[in-house]
Amino acid sequence: MLLRNKKKGLLAGKRALSSQKKQKVLKPLRARQLIRRFHVLLKNKTQLAKRLEKIWNCKLESDPAKLIKEHSPGLFKIFEQARLHTIETLLVNKSTPSAIINTDSLQPDRICEELGKIEGEIEKRGGLELYQAASVQGQSSQRGGDSSKKLVEWLKELGYNKKDAVALEIGCLNSRNLISTCGLFSKVVKIDLHSQEPDILEQDFMERPLPKSADEQFDLISCSLVVNFVPDPCLRGQMMHRITQFLKPYSQKPYLFFVLPLPCVINSRYFDNDRLSELMRALGFECIRHHESHKLAYYLYQWERRVSDELKFPKKELHKGAKRNNFCIVIS
Ligand SMILES: C[S@@+](CC[C@H](N)C(=O)[O-])C[C@H]1O[C@@H](n2cnc3c(N)ncnc32)[C@H](O)[C@@H]1O
Repeated sequence: MLLRNKKKGLLAGKRALSSQKKQKVLKPLRARQLIRRFHVLLKNKTQLAKRLEKIWNCKLESDPAKLIKEHSPGLFKIFEQARLHTIETLLVNKSTPSAIINTDSLQPDRICEELGKIEGEIEKRGGLELYQAASVQGQSSQRGGDSSKKLVEWLKELGYNKKDAVALEIGCLNSRNLISTCGLFSKVVKIDLHSQEPDILEQDFMERPLPKSADEQFDLISCSLVVNFVPDPCLRGQMMHRITQFLKPYSQKPYLFFVLPLPCVINSRYFDNDRLSELMRALGFECIRHHESHKLAYYLYQWERRVSDELKFPKKELHKGAKRNNFCIVIS
């Protein structure tokens, strides 16, 4: 079976990934810096693309560069100039260009210029390929390995032995993670925006076709460190809601394994464990296991009820403090 799909979505990049490519090994500090910088770049890219969508009243289904090119050759020139200039500048000067503060008032020429700069920086820093290599290294070096170890420990504790159970791993970096090798599932479908292995289907979960029959639904979905990767709070909410559409009916009590970086629930202005519980209950989930390590928060949910009809989950300030982050999940 051919496992690679055509690249789609906001993260669609210029560089094709090859599973045969030898992965770069980064020093842990360098890997962490790179991951942080990519998060900023991808977040800015999403915000700029959304602003452009609003101005041009269109939907950006793929790479913003493609849309700019189709929409306005003049603006594409600005985009390309900024991209190439950034690559050249970063060749000489390693310092990071300043972050974008507010996109609300930007006009198309400036948006295209900023998008060009971001694209140039992503390319110059090794592309999303290097970001993924850094994340894979993060899996092993920073936090003692693959998060599905916790999932498997919990499932064993619960005596999970469902016959022919099928799981979906969203955001899979390694096809040999314990979820795939533990023997508790007859099949684990593994997807990622940028597949690094032939066994991982390159697919944006947000564009995965909705199940048409029970055969296409899952007994368990693993979504570990993916929602925090999604740059926009509303898209995160859509992802959480969409997950329920891929689970077996709630009468069968399917599971969701969910992991967030700890700062998302202990140091956000807009989010904490209570707010997460509210959201998950509104989606019909009950938390049956919860664990916090010094870096991550792990949750095992069971889907028990249908999603509330009037599901709205706005952004609310919960905690004050200049040093807090802005992580939140919104359903509008
Ligand atoms: C930080 S890595 C985490 C990987 C792994 N699950 C773990 O726990 O270490 C986040 C991964 O989620 C993937 N991802 C983010 N949004 C996605 C989406 N919409 N569909 C599929 N994969 C996605 C990214 O490509 C990235 O590889």
